[in-house]
Amino acid sequence: MTPPRIAVLISGRGSNMEAIVRATREGILRDRCAISCVIANRPDAPGLARARALGLTTRVVPSKGLGTRAYGRRLLAALAEWHPDYVVLAGFMRIVSSDLVAAYPGRIVNIHPADTAAYQGPDGYGWAAERRLSETLVTVHLVDEGVDTGPVLRQERVSLTGAETKDEIVRRGLAVEHALYSECLAELFDGRYEDAVARVASRWRRG
Ligand code: GRF
Repeated sequence: MTPPRIAVLISGRGSNMEAIVRATREGILRDRCAISCVIANRPDAPGLARARALGLTTRVVPSKGLGTRAYGRRLLAALAEWHPDYVVLAGFMRIVSSDLVAAYPGRIVNIHPADTAAYQGPDGYGWAAERRLSETLVTVHLVDEGVDTGPVLRQERVSLTGAETKDEIVRRGLAVEHALYSECLAELFDGRYEDAVARVASRWRRG
């Protein structure tokens, strides 16, 4: 069987994207998927240079000034060039349109730097820092039509004991994210989460 093709969507630094790329080359994702392209919604996303340095095909699909639906249409058009099997969000800071979810039902994955049940929003580590949490969770989940509401695939604990600054929280969190995301994607591609995939997909089949 040919391994699934994935498109990775980023908005910023791209450290999760890089961890996934490295896992496809020398880690748990080896032979389990092929990265077709890296798409950024911002032309200044530092992750673009990172992706190019890794030899990947990159595209900018600018989101500035566009609402969720209009941007979703642009993304769909761009993705059509590669017809990926999965869309992997790695620090992608736009809400995914319902058209996109319908086009890839149960096949869009995201990593969230908090427990999605406790915090939905863009700054999970800032949220943990403000509350001076002694630990937090990172979550890998399927994307549905809500914001950070899709079925959880995996969660991993991050100890924040002694983490005095947000930078330190981010550092500890990313270390966990980088390992967790590739592990979880490997499980997804191996078919471990068919129930969760079917839950998202069934909503769209009912139309
Ligand atoms: C990560 O903390 C991820 O959980 C969140 O956005 C951040 C992206 O970081 N969704 P990077 O661009 O992968 O370095």
